[in-house]
Amino acid sequence: MANFVVLGGAGFIGSAFVRELNKRGVKPIVFDALTYAGRLENLKDVDHIFVKGDIRDVNALDRLLSNGVDVVVNFAAETHVDRSIYSPKDFVETNVLGVLNVLEASRKYDFKYVHISTDEVYGDEQCADDNAPLKPSSPYSASKASADLFVKAYVRTYGVKAMIVRPSNNYGPRQFPEKLIPKTIIRTLLDLPVPIYGDGKQERDWIYVEDTARIIADMIVNSAKWNGEVYNLPGKQTVTNMELVKMIGEIMGKEVKVKFVEDRPGHDRRYCMEPSIGYEVTPLREGLRRTVEWYLENRWWWEPLIGDKFFKDDVPWRG
Ligand SMILES: NC(=O)c1ccc[n+]([C@@H]2O[C@H](COP(=O)([O-])OP(=O)(O)OC[C@H]3O[C@@H](n4cnc5c(N)ncnc54)[C@H](O)[C@@H]3O)[C@@H](O)[C@H]2O)c1
Repeated sequence: MANFVVLGGAGFIGSAFVRELNKRGVKPIVFDALTYAGRLENLKDVDHIFVKGDIRDVNALDRLLSNGVDVVVNFAAETHVDRSIYSPKDFVETNVLGVLNVLEASRKYDFKYVHISTDEVYGDEQCADDNAPLKPSSPYSASKASADLFVKAYVRTYGVKAMIVRPSNNYGPRQFPEKLIPKTIIRTLLDLPVPIYGDGKQERDWIYVEDTARIIADMIVNSAKWNGEVYNLPGKQTVTNMELVKMIGEIMGKEVKVKFVEDRPGHDRRYCMEPSIGYEVTPLREGLRRTVEWYLENRWWWEPLIGDKFFKDDVPWRG
């Protein structure tokens, strides 16, 4: 099997992908800056070589990628929309300029590059196929869309070998508590109300993180053409935020106390993508059940994080 480097492999989806590689007998190199979202705890009991480093650092990337790497999968990013409203520049530095550094390295060292993007690049109110125009609404999705365009430009101009994957909203174990599902579980466990933006009728399409990891690994092995092609990866399970929160309460056997708060500016109403290939996913209720169970059993993982502003403030994007 090929040599893999996983950028951002200490984060939520990246660490699930490293677990998936382990299942397939691969021990990858994980390169991660360990920002607030990256944690070595996420790689506990996982077979890997860890290198601490930042994709904004050209020299560190050069040292990492000059040694005959076959495939680089990039999960390293600033990922929280609220934080992008609060502090957009960090998102350009990592999600655009950091990706540019990786693309420059791929020109030099000729590895295959898997670029992890998001459904948010399409904006809302459409059901996008993988050719649909990009209409990002937030600084986060604008930074992700910019990077996608650079990937395509590098394929066309320099013949870099790359593919772009656009998953929908992921959920599952080890997701930082700033995000809606862990926030709802943890705040409900702590008897705290859960802040819901606007009317809570925004629609999101959820995919279980282990499915995302498995499907990406399958695509690398089976379908990648490395010509800048885009793979939409929806969970094909759309619910409103209020429906989602209610479902979590049912699974926990505890009422979720909802507190409606001022909506996030530019908030997309709905994400919808046509899948690019066929695959099975975990039913939402079953995935949520496993997720709730994980957070119940792993208080040690999330207890140190509940002082974080983006977990504890009702309207954190406002500053
Ligand atoms: N979580 C979702 O619902 C979702 C949905 C679609 C797409 N995505 C995309 O998937 C990827 C992974 O998302 P996630 O939810 O696992 O994110 P995450 O925030 O949990 O993890 C990001 C990881 O990247 C690392 N990182 C951040 N900046 C870095 C830098 N400059 N150099 C090196 N490492 C850096 C962090 O330390 C962390 O380990 C991102 O590209 C994100 O845009 C996420």
